Amino acid sequence: MVKIGIILGSTRPGRNTEQVAKWVYEQAQKRNDAEFELVDIADYNLPLLDEPVPPSLGRYSKPHTKTWAAKVATFDGFVFVTPEYNHGIPAALKNAIDFLYKEWNNKAAGFVGYGSAGGARAVEQLRLNLSELQMAHVRAQVMLSLFTDFESFSTFKPAAHQEQAVNTMLDQLVAWAHALQALRKGELQQRKAA
Ligand SMILES: Cc1cc2nc3c(=O)[nH]c(=O)nc-3n(C[C@H](O)[C@H](O)[C@H](O)COP(=O)(O)O)c2cc1C
Repeated sequence: MVKIGIILGSTRPGRNTEQVAKWVYEQAQKRNDAEFELVDIADYNLPLLDEPVPPSLGRYSKPHTKTWAAKVATFDGFVFVTPEYNHGIPAALKNAIDFLYKEWNNKAAGFVGYGSAGGARAVEQLRLNLSELQMAHVRAQVMLSLFTDFESFSTFKPAAHQEQAVNTMLDQLVAWAHALQALRKGELQQRKAA
């Protein structure tokens, strides 16, 4: 069984992300091909990146980094639930991603974006960022419209077809999470044998 973390991309008071992530989790719970867990970056109280050594070197020094790294390390794949802020992702999400390196490597990612254009521009940026972290991001993505999937831009009422969109994204994500889990296990065995 692979483990998938559903990451809440916004830390804003009154954020829509809680409703969206909860809905994604509820859809995911109907499946039996993976374990799913909500991961709220707001719970980790990360300051703006304050590690003196680049994360790719893996020498984390701060307790908050170690706690965040330990959580991310438990997953084989992630659903990033992200709004669009100024055609990009929220700074809090980018910061949380930047804190770590190897905990993201060779893992799968899928996206649920929301905004006036379905969060599409934010997700495109996120794809670039995650490529640098050696993450495999699936093609299918969920694009939620502030105009048609929310009432008054704040009460989440997804259109019926969005449930299928989540499942198509999760089908691809779970498949790649399995494949990459095998790759990481193989690498580990090779290192032990060497
Ligand atoms: C700082 C900021 C910038 C925004 N920029 C965009 C944008 O460029 N495109 C867009 O579609 N929506 C934009 N929005 C609207 C958000 O997509 C919308 O408010 C969404 O609900 C925010 O997610 P949250 O409530 O989970 O924080 C912006 C909102 C904020 C707060």
